[in-house]
Amino acid sequence: MSAHKTVADTRRWALATLVAAALAAPAAWAQTPAEIQAALDAAHAKYKDIQEGKNADYIPALAKVDSKIYGIALVTTDGKVYTAGDVKSEVSIQSISKVFTMAKVIEEQGPEAIEKTIGVDATGMRFNSIVAVEFAQKALGGPEINPLVNPGAITATSMVRGSSRDEIWKSILGFYGEFAGRSLGVDQDVFKSESDTNQRNQAIGYLMYAYGFIKAEPLRATDVYTEQCSVAVNAKDLATMAGTLANAGKNPVTGKQVMKSANVPEVLAVMATAGLYDDSGKWLYHTGLPAKSGVGGGIIAVSPGKFGIAVISPPLDDAGNSVRAQKAIADVSNALGGNPYAPRH
Ligand code: DON
Repeated sequence: MSAHKTVADTRRWALATLVAAALAAPAAWAQTPAEIQAALDAAHAKYKDIQEGKNADYIPALAKVDSKIYGIALVTTDGKVYTAGDVKSEVSIQSISKVFTMAKVIEEQGPEAIEKTIGVDATGMRFNSIVAVEFAQKALGGPEINPLVNPGAITATSMVRGSSRDEIWKSILGFYGEFAGRSLGVDQDVFKSESDTNQRNQAIGYLMYAYGFIKAEPLRATDVYTEQCSVAVNAKDLATMAGTLANAGKNPVTGKQVMKSANVPEVLAVMATAGLYDDSGKWLYHTGLPAKSGVGGGIIAVSPGKFGIAVISPPLDDAGNSVRAQKAIADVSNALGGNPYAPRH
């Protein structure tokens, strides 16, 4: 074999290897900053004036929140932040907190703890359904709900480790802050308003205690859960939290590994199956994105390896999900190729 032929062969081999690697590896996310910003601006403009939905009012303080707050933020896995509209106003995080408390329990005790104690199946019922607990217990024979509905979420909160209420609370709030990339605080008006009116959640806490899923102090668990739901966040905080999940548990803005990358898939799986409650299937059908809503008006969604996105807009639909947030996230993600199930081009 001549030297010349050897060099040519080597080049051909190197090229073939490169092509094979390019085909095997996930396609790089090729959106330019201008395209990303344009997608956010378009979704903001398109839904700014729609009048559908209404603020949650079963927690009196939520009825008083300005329905016009409307902000979109997207954080890419390389730490770039894009925003449109009002990303300064804060709302209470509400049920979006359930994702991060689930993540905390998984970090402390492993994914089996959630699966065995609570379950990881969609209930197909409303987020505060008691029938769902009874059905799982009587017809399915055990913990067949999930940590994103109130009974499972209050149970998850009861599982967070700590020797006092104060220690447990600081550990939860500190964990959320690492996802957001700043220390977060509580909206005291919302906390008081929900504490004054959360008898149903107290009953749910007691029911989970009666069935042995909560081991002790169900009212304390419900109280800590209520406080975690009252944490104040803006759209950028939520998008950074979602971006951390998109980036395998490493906050893409601060660079801190907030949770183990190995534990992220389980968190995303429960978000995909139950994040928008009884509308989770419909949501996944249209976007493919693991997501989570809160009755404060926020929704987060995660495009793994690409971006986290969040929208805040308080008016909700009948399932308890923000109307504008669902529309805006679906538009932005579909414009940017965020659906992880979509074929690569
Ligand atoms: O427990 C509750 O009812 C509220 N703190 C949270 C509910 C919620 O956000 C449901 N989400 N869409």
